[in-house]
Amino acid sequence: MTNDGPPFGGVIYQVYPRSFRDGDGDGVGDLAGMRAGLDHLAWLGVDAVWSSPLYRSPMADFGYDIADHCDIDPVFGTLDDLDAFVADADARGLQVWLDFVPNHTSDRHRWFEAARSSTEDLHRDWYVWRDPAPDGGPPNNWVRHFADAPAWTLDERSGQYYLHHFLPEQPDVNWDTPALREAQLDVLRFWMDRGVRGFRADVVHLIGQDRSYPDDPPGVDRFDGRGDFHHHTSTKEHLRAIRRVLDERGAIIVGESYLEQPEVLLAHVGDDAQHLSFVFHLLGAPWDAAEWARRIMEVESVFEPAGAWPSWALGNHDRPRLATRLGSEARARVAATVQLTLRGVPCLFQGDELGLEDAIVPPDRVVDPGGRDGCRAPVPWTEDPDAGWSSSAWLPLPPDAATRSVAAQQADPASTANLYRRLLALRHAEPALVRGAQRILGGADGIPDGVLAVQRTDGVDELVTLAEMAGRGAVLDRRWASGWTVAIDTQSAGPREGTPFDGALDADTAIVLRRA
Ligand code: GLC
Repeated sequence: MTNDGPPFGGVIYQVYPRSFRDGDGDGVGDLAGMRAGLDHLAWLGVDAVWSSPLYRSPMADFGYDIADHCDIDPVFGTLDDLDAFVADADARGLQVWLDFVPNHTSDRHRWFEAARSSTEDLHRDWYVWRDPAPDGGPPNNWVRHFADAPAWTLDERSGQYYLHHFLPEQPDVNWDTPALREAQLDVLRFWMDRGVRGFRADVVHLIGQDRSYPDDPPGVDRFDGRGDFHHHTSTKEHLRAIRRVLDERGAIIVGESYLEQPEVLLAHVGDDAQHLSFVFHLLGAPWDAAEWARRIMEVESVFEPAGAWPSWALGNHDRPRLATRLGSEARARVAATVQLTLRGVPCLFQGDELGLEDAIVPPDRVVDPGGRDGCRAPVPWTEDPDAGWSSSAWLPLPPDAATRSVAAQQADPASTANLYRRLLALRHAEPALVRGAQRILGGADGIPDGVLAVQRTDGVDELVTLAEMAGRGAVLDRRWASGWTVAIDTQSAGPREGTPFDGALDADTAIVLRRA
């Protein structure tokens, strides 16, 4: 399958709309700001913009609690603003993708308000209701996200509990109810009719559920520890239904399936499921070349033979930022170089292209129930003290906002933003980086310990990424000292780019080589 190329051959850029750019000066990002930010994305060279939820929401989980799937929250603008954003993106050759949140709604959604109004209401079975356990407590021992608390809340009126994997304000829906499923598919149709070309599917591994709701086995008492327990075979059938609707219009879907084992994850991606699946195996990986190699091979030994395509993500609005996690901007640049040259469809998180670190959020400014404010800090646009956020922003700015701003970095050839731009340009120019076969090189190929080496080949074209991850530098053997040109160098403005490779690799740097 390696010669077919992925179903979407570009690079995805995630916008977290509250923090991307503020168009109306109220301190919260919005669609007007997103329109104004499109030139930066076109400059960078990405192909699709996925926005986290823009829908009407009480914002208990900042938009992942949807009260109306088919309208824009006033904090972000209007449907007309969305249409204008799609048109402006289109004019720049950028696709717009939205967040599809299939597993739950807000408790203020009219579906849930109806469901909760009476056990006889037609919407009752659109959600998950169960009688209390014999002791009056929750129906099983499941724990919800963001707190050591049950995943069930008692509805006093009916005496039944409803299920919520996340906040009590985010009741899970029941995909086995045909009318609910059809309503969800209609949501996709609604947005595709407005020119939306793709979707990111939020915690989509949860939509198929064992309706007997068995207790978790002993010792598994935290949501994060549940891992692959949340793989139910009915999910696949729902994914097929979603896929059929998307195929009618040629739209793409990338799933957020939190499943650890690649063999299990594979059920969610492929010709009869989702086009792409996020792969988070590098996001949590220790900074170690052998471990990165192991994880890449672990995923690809399953995905590649099956013709499935990973979407490698190194950051998002739920996890500490790349530069914060890895401890330095130099390492973040190395990681980006690997991400953008791996087989698959890379997904970038806004601001990682600026090498941003998490903001320091003092206790009196914490707003997220899940402790994720740091990575959601506003993107700095200008070198002014407020970084282009005209009134005080909803979260503190990230460290060194002025020097890391878009304006400062676009003007500086040595910046991280310009490195990303060069990497994206290389990806577009070299089919081998998109549809080429991939092999992780090792000692037998002359690769020393501490260096991750990824080879991509397409016919006679060959590129190799070398990432120095041990912090001591490396000298490769004679095989590497001739016949290669440096295509990308993560150091400063890439002074070696275009010159022959001499076999030396500095500490905390990466280079991409092209066979001369
Ligand atoms: C996903 C989102 C996260 C959200 C959760 C519930 O993991 O990325 O931000 O809180 O789902 O929708």
